[in-house]
Amino acid sequence: MNENRSKHGLKIVGNWKSHKKLADLEPWLESFQKTIISPVEKVEVVLALPLQLVYPFWSVLDNFPIAKASLKLGVQDVSPFPFGSYTGAVAAESLVDAGISTVLVGHSERRRYFHETHQDVAGKVTQVVEAGMTPVVCVDEEYVQAQANAIDQDLLEKCVVAYEPLEAIGTGDNQPVSEALLVVDQIKDVFGDVPVIYGGSVDMSCIHEYVPTLDGVLPGGASLDPVEFGSLVTAVEVM
Ligand code: PGA
Repeated sequence: MNENRSKHGLKIVGNWKSHKKLADLEPWLESFQKTIISPVEKVEVVLALPLQLVYPFWSVLDNFPIAKASLKLGVQDVSPFPFGSYTGAVAAESLVDAGISTVLVGHSERRRYFHETHQDVAGKVTQVVEAGMTPVVCVDEEYVQAQANAIDQDLLEKCVVAYEPLEAIGTGDNQPVSEALLVVDQIKDVFGDVPVIYGGSVDMSCIHEYVPTLDGVLPGGASLDPVEFGSLVTAVEVM
């Protein structure tokens, strides 16, 4: 184990994907708050929400002070363009207004179902960094280099990179950490010494494989369940 790996501080980025609606927020927060018991201090916990839930989430969060002290909000996509005539696109600057700190870019589902290219992802990184937020760039092994090449070289060090092996996403079949570490080294070779987190079927049964060896995790399915997500947060907080 390389002692340097967690020097950036540990992160958990929950990805709700295209799940949940207004009525789900209060029960989720109530149960999450009960699970973590006290405010999380050592781990950066981000919940990447569906866009339409961001403003209501903030209002509901006011009723849950322990959760509020523990959570940052993120979203799962952003426009590769600034404000302008780009119908349907959400500009990074407007996300800052909405209290967003972190934006997932280039998730494999965006690449697969919405045909996002490395260049699209690079444009999103630029917008997110210029707006003062953190981009979490999601990559699989085969395009680590190509994705890094497309991003403005000065911006690489501003990225958090999420290594998400395709075959591990949503399958319940997480990649063994020994294999993941080989790709993490490759990511650090091309992006520099940036925080690298792992995503792909992370839950309580495997969290200890990845943290604190890596800089954190990106749970999708496990973030939908507030008790599971709260348990992951607590497990990392006490590491
Ligand atoms: P999963 O999703 O934890 O459900 O595998 C991770 C992701 O796609 O970000």
